[in-house]
Amino acid sequence: MPYKILTVDDEKDITRLLQRTLEPEIDCKVSMAFSAKMAMNILANDTFDLVICDIKMPGMDGFGLLDHITQSFPDLTVVMLTAFGNIDLAVKAIKKGAYDFISKPFDQSEIIYKIQKALERSHLLAENKRLLSEKKGFSSQLVGTSEAMAKVYEKISMIASSDVSVLILGESGTGKDMTAKTIHSLSPRQNQPFIPVNCPTIPELILESELFGYKKGAFTNAARDKKGLFQEADKGTLFLDEIGDIGPTIQTKLLRAVQEKEIKPLGDTKTQKIDVRIIASTNSDLEKKMAENKFRQDFFYRLSVITIELPPLRDRITDIPALAEHLVEKNCKKLDKEPKIISSKVLDLLMKQPWPGNVRELENVLIQGILYSKEEIINQADLPIKPVQRPEADKLNSSSSENKELYKLFYKDAKEKTLHDFNHDYIGALLSMTNGNVTQAAKHCNLDRQGLQQIMKRFSIDPDQFR
Ligand SMILES: Nc1ncnc2c1ncn2[C@@H]1O[C@H](COP(=O)(O)OP(=O)(O)OP(=O)(O)O)[C@@H](O)[C@H]1O
Ligand SMILES: [Mg+2]
Repeated sequence: MPYKILTVDDEKDITRLLQRTLEPEIDCKVSMAFSAKMAMNILANDTFDLVICDIKMPGMDGFGLLDHITQSFPDLTVVMLTAFGNIDLAVKAIKKGAYDFISKPFDQSEIIYKIQKALERSHLLAENKRLLSEKKGFSSQLVGTSEAMAKVYEKISMIASSDVSVLILGESGTGKDMTAKTIHSLSPRQNQPFIPVNCPTIPELILESELFGYKKGAFTNAARDKKGLFQEADKGTLFLDEIGDIGPTIQTKLLRAVQEKEIKPLGDTKTQKIDVRIIASTNSDLEKKMAENKFRQDFFYRLSVITIELPPLRDRITDIPALAEHLVEKNCKKLDKEPKIISSKVLDLLMKQPWPGNVRELENVLIQGILYSKEEIINQADLPIKPVQRPEADKLNSSSSENKELYKLFYKDAKEKTLHDFNHDYIGALLSMTNGNVTQAAKHCNLDRQGLQQIMKRFSIDPDQFR
């Protein structure tokens, strides 16, 4: 069956050009929409493999449509069109969930290549979903039933059975290592090696020989041939942990290895084929690194065919009781202690902590609790956490620099600043929802139009900005 593609652009010539370019080259049928609203109507009544969407359009723009698609059709692949050189918008689109972007005016071979890749991804997602829906009883060692974790499990189950590269993003201690292992253990490679490489702990010069291996005599101390980690991981999974910190030379070499599926050990003249699934992780902002030319864009796209974003613990506090119980049970066994339980007061307290170090920090706190508690119950006194302060005191002591700045101001100025920020956030959100339509915005927040207009005037909010 031909792939179904929907192109969305207010410039009709562009949608026609896409149709004329793609239909003869790819087995596909291209439909056209000339506004985001029109696209939404079409999407509500038909299924597509891919949407190609312009960013700048009158009325709802491409970002609005992208939001709608990521919410309503999370598996649908979207490629954005941007005016040439508008890299900021392209980066924003990727952040918001677009798979790729194409600059206008487009280069024919580039667009065909990119669209083929995007369609491959759609096909793969659909295939994996089908396969996994047949497999019952998906289980992993990852604990947590929050909405945020449910999304993570869904992604894992979609991609585990394929060979597609995965990029795991998340603050430190959110479970990146565990997620990588889970993906491997659910994949057809589960009985083959899982080889983690902690990239930043290995100096760059050594990292290359560690990864690709070397031949005897390749350098002064190379007394014999040595296998690299790629070879060790052959038929299995290579987990490139903290990939954000590796230098450009290794990035280039890794890109080649991933792309060509072959490596060349140091000092060797021949290349070797390898069959390795790559999972990478990072807690750094790769988009920022790319903008600063510290991380290769092509390498990023190679690695991030699928990205899994792990939520910080503070965004899933409902998972804390189950996590805490699991971690206590696990560590009591590990430390050879009798099983212990956590008092409900402590559980309550744990849910109120900020956890900047996420699950790892929670685990460390609980290990201390296990070691200090003399009874079967872990009480507050056994833990290195403070009782939670009242919210007002919290605010005053908050490490947020914004709050600290606010408390330096006189009451009148602090109040005015807070009102200004609140109104810009609140009314700004309403206006962007209604595309700058003040009457609709007023209805939404139960004000009359005049009242809302007065507030907008007072705080210099211009509805035209949202049209
Ligand atoms: N969802 C989870 N369920 C159970 N245990 C978890 C979960 N997430 C993390 N952990 C535990 O928390 C600890 C930290 O997890 P992990 O090492 O996977 O995180 P990380 O994101 O790789 O951390 P870092 O950034 O420090 O490398 C581990 O002991 C792991 O077992
Ligand atoms: Mg880690």
